[in-house]
Amino acid sequence: MQKKTSLNKRNQLFSQQIVQWYLEHGRHDLPWRKKVTPYRIWISEIMLQQTQVKTVIPYFKNFIKKFPSQKSLSEASEDQVLAAWSGLGFYRRARNIFATKEIIKNNYRNRFPNEFEHIIELPGIGKSTAGAIMSLAYLDPHPILDGNVKRVISRFLKKELDLLKEAELWKLSKEMVNRDDCFSYTQGIMDLGATICKPSNPSCLECPVNSQCLSAFNVSSAKKNKTASVKKVIEMNLSLILTKKSLLLVKNENDSIWKNLWLPFDSGSIKNHIKNFKLATTQKIKHELTHRTLEINLKTYSSLKELEIETNQTYKWIKKDRIEEYGLPKPISKVIKEL
Ligand code: ADE
Repeated sequence: MQKKTSLNKRNQLFSQQIVQWYLEHGRHDLPWRKKVTPYRIWISEIMLQQTQVKTVIPYFKNFIKKFPSQKSLSEASEDQVLAAWSGLGFYRRARNIFATKEIIKNNYRNRFPNEFEHIIELPGIGKSTAGAIMSLAYLDPHPILDGNVKRVISRFLKKELDLLKEAELWKLSKEMVNRDDCFSYTQGIMDLGATICKPSNPSCLECPVNSQCLSAFNVSSAKKNKTASVKKVIEMNLSLILTKKSLLLVKNENDSIWKNLWLPFDSGSIKNHIKNFKLATTQKIKHELTHRTLEINLKTYSSLKELEIETNQTYKWIKKDRIEEYGLPKPISKVIKEL
């Protein structure tokens, strides 16, 4: 019993100190923290699922400029959502945002739901993102559990992260949540994990919980990846056909990472038509994604006019100055910009 009381006290102090530290040292100027609405919190949390804060900032601002509210997003096509996501990667997130806004339009009269049980049912939203939305948008205390939070908690209690079960981590995270100011607590523990309690060389001297932390000043540096994983190389052969003012792109309907984005034709699928065009350049483009390396063999062809192609794929001649209205993967839009 004694042990339990002291553990609770320790957790309580932890959560108070995080709140205090956030109020004094948190990143208050992050755009999703300034004007808080459920809609803005949702978009930012989805962007932040797999992308770092500094990369997300300009994409978030641009997305919000295009779609300032749930209502404005409700009118958007999937193409427009993918276009606003272009370059951020992990496009499933954008397809899920499209699917979610349709559900919110049809089932919730365009108002983001405010119950955890409803939020967690939405595409692309798991327990941690739903918890973040509840705490940040509705000030209803719920735990979160991302990589940063796992590291902070396991170090604080000096428990080997590899040995902690997911359920145990959730239980600990729940015990820690500050019930009086769950907004500052939730943003604070994320900031602490990102800026102080870093994976290697944590700044224990500056940490607000260093007097309680069982690992303070004694953190063994993060283990290197056991096996340096070799990324899978994917080779693509693409043919980009251009007139003076437009380019020919095809909607990628394969169930792949680039599903529903616009790409040049696959060289194989256009080979029967290629005699109508004049080969201009051949280039090899290497592009690193998080989990794979892409090697793109790109041929560009010139065409005198916007010819029709006999195909069952969805294609479009797109004016070069309207390319921003389409969702294109980064390596493709980069090449097009450099043409
Ligand atoms: N990572 C996930 N959510 C975040 C947030 N709201 N602020 C900073 N980093 C985050």
